[in-house]
Amino acid sequence: MAIAIRYYSKFGHSAKMAETVSEVTGVKPETTDVPISEPVDVLYLGSGVFLGKISSDMTRFIRSLTPDKVKQVVCFGSCAIIKSPVPQMRSLLEAQGITVSEKEFTCKGSMGPLHAGHPDQQDMDNLRKFIQSTL
Ligand SMILES: Cc1cc2nc3c(=O)[nH]c(=O)nc-3n(C[C@H](O)[C@H](O)[C@H](O)COP(=O)(O)O)c2cc1C
Repeated sequence: MAIAIRYYSKFGHSAKMAETVSEVTGVKPETTDVPISEPVDVLYLGSGVFLGKISSDMTRFIRSLTPDKVKQVVCFGSCAIIKSPVPQMRSLLEAQGITVSEKEFTCKGSMGPLHAGHPDQQDMDNLRKFIQSTL
């Protein structure tokens, strides 16, 4: 099964989460600056939220995807205030005609003192279990 990992990370949280995804899948994580050049069966895609929105880099990356290149996306992310970045990712991906797994993962991501320390070790353990459940 061909797998890819992409993330956009302003403060290193999604980068840290992508490392955990990498440990489980054995695939090197890359930022959204790196296009999907070869077709993949599963793309793990990670993001935070800034001023209520996913970043424009993530939006641009999603708009570059096509169903012939990406069979399915599994979204993961973190945020401090809203429930999850995943619905925004999901709706953009679906607009591209891409299948998005019903399985998704979100944890708290610190914003200054709010949820300080997150994503923490427990979040990473939960993410590890989640990724295992998608394989
Ligand atoms: C300047 C700033 C703005 C943020 N805005 C929001 C927001 O509007 N809603 C929210 O839920 N989280 C917000 N957050 C929390 C981030 O989404 C959270 O830190 C996330 O883990 C960042 O992931 P990243 O480091 O991978 O980019 C904000 C954080 C910062 C530092």
